[in-house]
Amino acid sequence: MTATLRGAGAGQRVAKSGPDRRRMLAGSLAMIMTLTTRSRLAQATPDDGSLGRSAAGCGVRFGAAYDAEVFEDAGYAELIRRHSTVTGNLNAFKYDWLRPKGPQADFHMADRILAFAAEARIPFTATTLFWNDYPAPWLKHLSVAELRRLFDAHVDEVVGRYAGRIAAWVVVNEPFAPWDGEPGIYRKGPWYAAFGPGYIERAFRRARAADPSARLILNEGFCERRDDIGAAVRPALRGLARRLLDDGVPVDTIGLQGHIQPRYGVDHVAYGAYLAELADLGLSLEITELDVDDSRMPGDIEVRDRQVAEQYRAFLDQVLAVPRIRSIMTWGISDRTTWYSDVAKAENPVSPRPPRPLPYDRAMQPKPATAAIRAAFETCLEPRR
Ligand code: G3I
Repeated sequence: MTATLRGAGAGQRVAKSGPDRRRMLAGSLAMIMTLTTRSRLAQATPDDGSLGRSAAGCGVRFGAAYDAEVFEDAGYAELIRRHSTVTGNLNAFKYDWLRPKGPQADFHMADRILAFAAEARIPFTATTLFWNDYPAPWLKHLSVAELRRLFDAHVDEVVGRYAGRIAAWVVVNEPFAPWDGEPGIYRKGPWYAAFGPGYIERAFRRARAADPSARLILNEGFCERRDDIGAAVRPALRGLARRLLDDGVPVDTIGLQGHIQPRYGVDHVAYGAYLAELADLGLSLEITELDVDDSRMPGDIEVRDRQVAEQYRAFLDQVLAVPRIRSIMTWGISDRTTWYSDVAKAENPVSPRPPRPLPYDRAMQPKPATAAIRAAFETCLEPRR
């Protein structure tokens, strides 16, 4: 094992280490790192080199999720290819996108989305098999027996169809919703109505049977929030993962979305400590949907971009200190395509403020967030090799 101190001079390698050695190095070299990082950043690291390559130096993968924009916008496609050593869909593999009108699936777009990644030889994470939010409207009229049948059929058909071609599946997304008022704070929706909390275990077991080679992810949001929602979801997620593991359910990874929303309060250091607790369960961890809500930040774009960049940096510094983190994925790459545009329109339909939550702006130019992400990768101790 070797520990690399990225940022301490050009690719300087610090020989031989395990976790103990790494801790010692971390303390004694922290000062050097701070000083040399500054000088390294001053050497104008280009913001357009591959972030995936920077991440590799830190022992993790980096990438961005996408949908059809890669077919409509060559610049967008180029950014995804350039930066991603892992990628995935935004929407195309969701139940309501595969089956918008009824049980018959339309795989046309999901096939194209996956083919793009396959051609670029980027491992693909499909999201998500089951999410109780945004149910396809036609599901509302079905009986429990019909929902149960459709649930099983969905796993078998979809996971089976892509078996061997998808690196990882987000099997269950956002199991918790404290505001729904259910025991155990489970999120209400059709799949919960069909099986109760047992839908989660059932989905994982069935997915493993349909594709034994895919890594299976339990994904949740809100955990970085310093409010009541974060405080409720963090222990619920840890408890669920613990129970699933105890019962031999094939969960490989916990995905944390990482939609950083400073308006609710964020405590990056406490979040890092929570990730370390999750890591103690023995599962790998991933950040699956990273972006930064800038809606309450100052209007001045320079100031706002700087604050967004600071959030990325503070978040990643904590995340990258956890050895079980294996990848970081942003929820899109350019502000041209972000779910926050819909949020902004809902908040102010007359004159929505264009949101700037992602590393590239709408003109596909890198923003300070790009440099901040790169700097986080270049200054991490390399704990994973
Ligand atoms: O494409 C249609 C467009 O043709 C139509 O004119 C327009 C009218 O509303 O809708 C467009 O589709 C919308 C789509 O986003 C693309 O913008 C859907 O209505 C809207 O429901 C959909 O929202 C997605 C949302 O999940 C629900 O599936 C967002 O793109 C997507 O970013 C968001 O992602 C979620 C993750 O899955 C889970 N974690 C939170 C994250 C953000 O909410």
